[in-house]
Amino acid sequence: MKPEWNQWAQEAKQQFPEANSSLLPLLYRIQHAEGWLSDETIRDVASLLGLTTQYVESVASFYSLFYRQKVGRNVVHVCVGLSCALAGSDSVMEHLEHKLGIREGQTTADGEYTLLEAECLAACDLAPVIQRNLRFVGHVDPENVGRVLSDDGKEVNS
Ligand code: FES
Repeated sequence: MKPEWNQWAQEAKQQFPEANSSLLPLLYRIQHAEGWLSDETIRDVASLLGLTTQYVESVASFYSLFYRQKVGRNVVHVCVGLSCALAGSDSVMEHLEHKLGIREGQTTADGEYTLLEAECLAACDLAPVIQRNLRFVGHVDPENVGRVLSDDGKEVNS
């Protein structure tokens, strides 16, 4: 456990006195510092807030923006929920895997991209949907999927 985490837990509890309410801000702050949430981190957070490890794990694994594995600088989620599946998310995933040279769940060797599945990203009217970090891209054309990997919309070659 990092020494500052205890202080962060106290600050979260002051803001949100209920332990399960202070959990999200504390997880967010720790992930922002560490880049992801390890099993050890989950146990430490549970101890800091007086929650069970299982409860903290259930929350951390529910939200797609909490990472339970080390990730690259860009995390690309491909929605595989029903609307996106019907709109061709499997083809989007295949093109991204080919483009990046990795499989779902992996990170490129240069640490630039991690490719993950997500359940419904709550933008079904835009299916198929990709989320790159905090940016949503809808109506993704699998043939031009490299464009969603860059900030300027230019094709990314990996
Ligand atoms: S199923 Fe993909 S956004 Fe809802």
